[in-house]
Amino acid sequence: MELFYNEKIIKACELIKKSNYTVAFTGAGVSTESGIPDFRSPGGLWQRFRIVTYQEFIFDRQARHEFWRMKKELIQEMINAKPNNAHKALAELEKMGFLKHVITQNIDGLHQMAGNKSVIELHGNQKGFICLDCEKSYSINEVINMLKEDELDLRCEICGGIIKPTVVFFGEPMPEKELTMAQKIANECDLMLVIGTSLQVEPAASIPRIAYKSGAKLIFINKAETDWDWMAEIIFYDSAGKVLKDIVETI
Ligand code: OAD
Ligand code: ZN
Repeated sequence: MELFYNEKIIKACELIKKSNYTVAFTGAGVSTESGIPDFRSPGGLWQRFRIVTYQEFIFDRQARHEFWRMKKELIQEMINAKPNNAHKALAELEKMGFLKHVITQNIDGLHQMAGNKSVIELHGNQKGFICLDCEKSYSINEVINMLKEDELDLRCEICGGIIKPTVVFFGEPMPEKELTMAQKIANECDLMLVIGTSLQVEPAASIPRIAYKSGAKLIFINKAETDWDWMAEIIFYDSAGKVLKDIVETI
């Protein structure tokens, strides 16, 4: 039977209160209300820009140009973004003792800024940049300054090596420590809130499947349908900020 919105909120709160180990798994949809576009919705980043893979970034100067052009356009709004109601609600749930970890595919750092203490970043963080040859790190401010130059192929000032963001590119393996930790948590949790992700990118998208297979209940909050909606105990096709705020206010 189809439940009304308020009934679903009450049911979600009951599941959260009953659970001993609730975690959240988030994607770009959790940050759209902070003004950061997602990837696959209409108007999302992959309609405006081409995906530059790890291999292209390493071997193809033209692809590096393309990547840095995209970065230059987005970097300022990314670093100016502030946590929205969804991030704030997840931080509140952790503070109240209802949420143990946030596993995120996002690189924007907004969960930490909102106050979540245990955040596992599967795709890295936008603040990190490194020379692929000598491993010198560069700060985001140094990179912003370099992007002011016309030559959009950022090179190490020490050795001339290629500078790459530490975020995970397509074709690049995920950070092993984070992936292992996320898999362990997915195995052990009994409730997972899956928020703002199309679940189309592997291996990140396997995390909710691991939770489901190990017997955890799943609550989905997504504006659009995904191929994995059948796993959900409760589904909200709605704004993450709205639903999570209502959950915190009701719990
Ligand atoms: P997607 O853009 O694929 O999916 C975002 C999901 O969030 C969609 O299902 C939207 O309907 C939903 N959504 C958007 N705004 C929302 C809102 N306000 N409230 C609720 N839902 C909302 O983003 P991800 O699944 O995060 O990886 O993408 C996964 C990975 O693909 C990213 O980490 C990135 C990307 O390429 C790399 O770059 C390696
Ligand atoms: Zn170097």
